[in-house]
Amino acid sequence: EVTKDWNGADQVAIRSPRGASVRVSLQGGQVVSWRNDRGEELLFTSSKAIFKPLKAVRGGIPVCFPQFGNCGTLEQHGFARNKTWIVDDEAPPLSNGDNNNKASVDLLLKPSDDDLKCWPHCFELRLRVSLSMDGDLSLISRVRNVNGKPFSFSFAYHTYLSVSDISEVRIEGLETLDYLDNLSQRERFTEQGDAITFESEVDRVYVGSPGVIAVLDHEKKRTFIIRKEGLPDIVVWNPWEKKSKTMSDFGDDEYKQMLCVNAAAVERAITLKPGEEWTGKLELSAVPSTNCSDH
Ligand code: BG6
Repeated sequence: EVTKDWNGADQVAIRSPRGASVRVSLQGGQVVSWRNDRGEELLFTSSKAIFKPLKAVRGGIPVCFPQFGNCGTLEQHGFARNKTWIVDDEAPPLSNGDNNNKASVDLLLKPSDDDLKCWPHCFELRLRVSLSMDGDLSLISRVRNVNGKPFSFSFAYHTYLSVSDISEVRIEGLETLDYLDNLSQRERFTEQGDAITFESEVDRVYVGSPGVIAVLDHEKKRTFIIRKEGLPDIVVWNPWEKKSKTMSDFGDDEYKQMLCVNAAAVERAITLKPGEEWTGKLELSAVPSTNCSDH
């Protein structure tokens, strides 16, 4: 049996019997903590994070909608991460039948009058946050067009993974893909190397990535498995030393302990006709690494 309880006024915690847990905040619909059954935190949150109303916290998993980044007319990464969501006790079942025995909470965001002024499209954004018995975290977003006209949006689960030392981390599954480099006006390159490793600032959108990728933390002997559906791209971001110093809610050396690997729909916007719904799913597992590639 898995328990779910209110934790303060605006956060819901879900716990598995073996001790894994996830906490999600109504502020931004943001997952702010995900712990394994040993109580280890798997998501990064900055020690300099600013906790104030209507501001996304630097860490966890902010939801970027209806815009990713700053290519568009809206604030960076869209407004959803800065809004207060509500618990949706009457969320409709998922159409793919994935309504099994996982413990979950459903959140809902609808546009405020202010949102409609800057983005004049009536939508419902639902987020289901679930924890499996094994402690895997699943996030399922559904965007419904309740407008009279089509609209388009981009989306990302801005996932701050906690790592022991960025120089010991590699990503597998993005080799040979094309990426848009945010550090050079979104110019398109093709990844040449083997697995991706880190020795300077990285801010890339890997396009058309496979449904499963792995982030290996050599020092921690932990691998994050990222599974996604409906989200063709993966954004990889680490600010490295110089950019870290320009971010007021991020410690100067914290880039060593985090890596953002964001399941996303960025290169091509999603378009919904009136009445249509889109679903984007992210599943995260953290498993002990085997050492076979160490030698
Ligand atoms: C990344 C973007 O995903 O988010 C970066 O690719 C950006 O360009 C970063 O700097 C952080 O964004 P923000 O708005 O949360 O500071």
